[in-house]
Amino acid sequence: MNIAIVGPGAIGILFATMLIKSGQNVRLLDYNKKRVEIISKNGISLESKNKVYTNKIKITDKATDLEGIDLFIICVKSYDTKNAARSIKNALRDNSLVLTLQNGVGNVEVISEILGPDRVISGVTSQGANVISDGKVRHAGFGETVIGKIGGKIPAYLREIRYVFNKSGLKTRISKDIRSLIWSKLVINVGINALTAITHLRNGQLLEYTGTRNILRQAVSEAVKIIKRKRIKLIYDDVIDKTEGVCEATAQNISSMLQDVLKKKKTEIDFINGAIVRQGQSLGIATTVNSVLLDLVKSIELSYTKTTS
Ligand code: PAF
Repeated sequence: MNIAIVGPGAIGILFATMLIKSGQNVRLLDYNKKRVEIISKNGISLESKNKVYTNKIKITDKATDLEGIDLFIICVKSYDTKNAARSIKNALRDNSLVLTLQNGVGNVEVISEILGPDRVISGVTSQGANVISDGKVRHAGFGETVIGKIGGKIPAYLREIRYVFNKSGLKTRISKDIRSLIWSKLVINVGINALTAITHLRNGQLLEYTGTRNILRQAVSEAVKIIKRKRIKLIYDDVIDKTEGVCEATAQNISSMLQDVLKKKKTEIDFINGAIVRQGQSLGIATTVNSVLLDLVKSIELSYTKTTS
């Protein structure tokens, strides 16, 4: 399969390496010219289970360089989704497919609006990976990837992608209700990400303090009210229990949002707690705790530019 990964961050490099290992023809697209130079020179490398896999790979910052792509996999941060979708528009063939494996909600809708819903596939992945430096990634945990079409149809190409991913060691299944999986993943990020970004605690430490544990529970409860009103079915019976379980299972992890804050990078807050606040406003449901988390993370982002003397 001819695959282009859009956004060579942690998940992008992980998927690229695994797909190359199984013989797929993988290329990278990146708007970041400096990173394009580094990866063109050094290739990509993935550290997984005490082994390092290094590969030379074609990378470009121009989507028009990409010809004959069967599948584009969008791995950019949610705030770059619109640009990523616009940039690949002219590189699409009639039957090119576009899969999003991003965090947060709203990405499928943005991509579908720009590229048309027929070719768009939604996905969620519980694979864990951390960037060591540009092009170098550490595989932090093996998780499942779930793909599906909004609306539940299962076209033959979904089975083909599932086959290729599984053959590449990326455990993958198809869901008829991918929306429910996207929101189920969101609710966990709502409880963990902003709180770790503000406190600088590791995921597991959120459970050690009464204060952070209470805030985690309240943020998740607000999100659950919204999800229920939207009649979206969550895949866990007890979401708070599940979120605390993820904190325990990933106790040593520095969440993706805390990693962004530590690097003074823009975060995905607008697509996680921010999405809950926006939904709350339109549904008339109070989201007091999520609003505070949103405001605090936004303030942290603004403080990056201020220098102290
Ligand atoms: O965004 C993240 O870091 C992850 O989704 C999670 C589950 C919070 C684990 O760190």
